[in-house]
Amino acid sequence: SLEGFDHYMLKEIYEQPESIRNAMRGRLDEQDATAVFGGLNLTPQQLRGVERIILTGCGTSWHSALVGEYLIEELARIPVSVEYASELRYRNPPIDNNTLVFGITQSGETADTLAALRETKRKGHRTLAICNVVASSIAQAADGGVYLHAGPEIGVASTKAYTSQCCVLAMLALYFGRMRHLSYEGGKRIIEEMQQLPGAVQQALTCDVQVRDVAQKYKDVSNVLYLGRQYNFPTALEGALKLKEISYIHAEGYPAAEMKHGPIALVDEHTPSVFIIPHGTTYEKVLANMEEVKARGGPVIAIASHEDPQIESIADDVIRIPSVPEILQPIVSVVPLQLLSYHIALLRGCDVDKPRNLAKSVTVE
Ligand code: M6R
Repeated sequence: SLEGFDHYMLKEIYEQPESIRNAMRGRLDEQDATAVFGGLNLTPQQLRGVERIILTGCGTSWHSALVGEYLIEELARIPVSVEYASELRYRNPPIDNNTLVFGITQSGETADTLAALRETKRKGHRTLAICNVVASSIAQAADGGVYLHAGPEIGVASTKAYTSQCCVLAMLALYFGRMRHLSYEGGKRIIEEMQQLPGAVQQALTCDVQVRDVAQKYKDVSNVLYLGRQYNFPTALEGALKLKEISYIHAEGYPAAEMKHGPIALVDEHTPSVFIIPHGTTYEKVLANMEEVKARGGPVIAIASHEDPQIESIADDVIRIPSVPEILQPIVSVVPLQLLSYHIALLRGCDVDKPRNLAKSVTVE
């Protein structure tokens, strides 16, 4: 039931502190400073021998795969490739031995993801699912996997499944990292940081009031750019997809620095840019990109850390999020973007939970 919320999408956005907690429950091992998973169905030797990882999925699940790429490469130093499941199933790429293939999916029923996993499995590779729906087709087709435990996601726009996918990928990166180069101290620090996540997401939700004002201001635009770098590049893609799906406004997500290679031509006074710019290694660079947009008359909405006094002098609108370590930022920085798409869609009179032309799970090619 809706439990007092107007729409499932909003309810599911607000459930995220809890769904993230559920994704982590029983999986953070403080004693060994690592993560534990019950259903990988692989021996420690097999997991230790993994030399390459392929992450595949569609839509929002493909975005979480991009987050996973950054996480696993950084924490575990295992090369990762991210593939659209719809492309992987027909592309026939050479896949080395000791490659592990993860299918990422909320529903577990997405036809392309299922086919991509079946095809890689047929070739003899180990396949795992990161999935929300228990005993779904993909969960059954894979050799093993990790459930999200996010609870049913009913809104067509995926929200809580995405943050849970990112959370599971962070734990997998920790797990593989601790089998390799990540120190005990390093692992312990990540566990402590992850334990702060539900609280940080809870705090991020308080931006709802600010987001409503921003939604009111920009509800009639026809195009929006979403820009972010590194861990927040997938966030930019996900923010753009959310807006497209439920408000039918054209939106593009880009790595912020890529903007000058083309998309900047779109910038004018009617085209706002949403910058995802919490504190981190590329902060100054993204700030420079933001100034470039301002200089061309483009309105700027910044998703920024609470402790960032200077951002207000450049951005037209600022939405604040709590500071978390860079590797966990996607889980927090996507929250205002989910809310922004929700409020804009609502103001435009769109059917938020059942957007036109879309189904909750895409079981056709
Ligand atoms: O159930 P899945 O995660 O496999 O679904 C994949 C995509 O169809 C899905 O993420 C879609 O892009 C959503 N509507 C995004 O909000």
